[in-house]
Amino acid sequence: MNVLGIESSCDETSVAVIRDGKLTSNLISSQDFHVKYGGVVPELSSRAHLQIIIPLLKDSLVQAGIGLKDVDVVCATAGPGLIGALLVGLTFGKSLAYSLNKPFIPVNHIEGHIFSGFLMDEKPEFPYLALVVSGGHTLLLIVKSDTEIIKLGTTVDDAAGEAFDKVAKMLGLGYPGGPKIQKAASLGDPEKIHFPVANLKNPYDFSFSGLKTAVLRYLQQTYGKDKAVPDGDMPDIAASFQKAVIKALMQNVEKALKEYKVNSVSLVGGVAANRALREALAQVASKYRKKLVIPDFVYCGDNAAMIAYRGSRLFANGNKYSLDYNAFPGLSSKTFAG
Ligand code: KG4
Ligand code: ZN
Repeated sequence: MNVLGIESSCDETSVAVIRDGKLTSNLISSQDFHVKYGGVVPELSSRAHLQIIIPLLKDSLVQAGIGLKDVDVVCATAGPGLIGALLVGLTFGKSLAYSLNKPFIPVNHIEGHIFSGFLMDEKPEFPYLALVVSGGHTLLLIVKSDTEIIKLGTTVDDAAGEAFDKVAKMLGLGYPGGPKIQKAASLGDPEKIHFPVANLKNPYDFSFSGLKTAVLRYLQQTYGKDKAVPDGDMPDIAASFQKAVIKALMQNVEKALKEYKVNSVSLVGGVAANRALREALAQVASKYRKKLVIPDFVYCGDNAAMIAYRGSRLFANGNKYSLDYNAFPGLSSKTFAG
């Protein structure tokens, strides 16, 4: 059975094929031109998805060694994400399913990330603790099965990736901020500056806006308003900020591991590409003797392999969807699983 996955929620267009449970193609086209605007420009993103999606589908099918007529199920991201960008992939997927007379499965992008560990040879074991850290979302969840996900906590303000991007902008490092901060931080001393970690009413929630403000205040007090940070100071600031983000995330993971019985821990989403965060979670998982599953870098950022995988499970579980299914920009408009 050939399951086709389509992803277009933000600035990556991706088409993947899973054949009889095995990933046979996962092509990703990144819209690098947003760099010059300092962030993703929604309208430009939609147009770029439109331009690339047909050639990407053709190439992905060639790589998988199949033709369009061999596709059995079509899956596409329905949300959350940028509405115009989502509509390109979703409408394309629905049209394809209609013209091929095959089932269509809309996929929740965050669920795609949550189950992305299953793309690895070493898979998570239910129930597992999932830490989702992306540009738009930060979530701590217990994943009991394909259909049962319990939300322990979420961010009350900025997402972890958003904090990386905003602080990188303040430091003049450019976009996307995560990889730039990681690079600068690798040369710095994380103990140099103390940045605070928020304590919230729900012990599993996260907050990063106070940390962002603390970095801004530090910059203003040390260098004055609107002054550039000297190159020599950049690594220590980046390392100290990165340490505070990781501390906030690990604090809640440890609390959850003390309270809930799980078999594995999984780190997913774009920020899961961060090496220091991967190492910190490896230490925590080993301390609590839990199996750790972190997807390869290519499956941390946005990709269609995770959409095809999640869609294939929804299909296997007998879920049926009509072609009326619409795109949704926010997480709150659709609950997890089902
Ligand atoms: O999951 P993703 O690709 O897109 C969303 O669904 O949001 O995540 C993108 C986020 C961006 O905020 C980016 O700065 C962050 O992931 N990111 C990183 C790293 N690589 C990407 N953050 C920290 N360290 C990294 N190495
Ligand atoms: Zn994502």
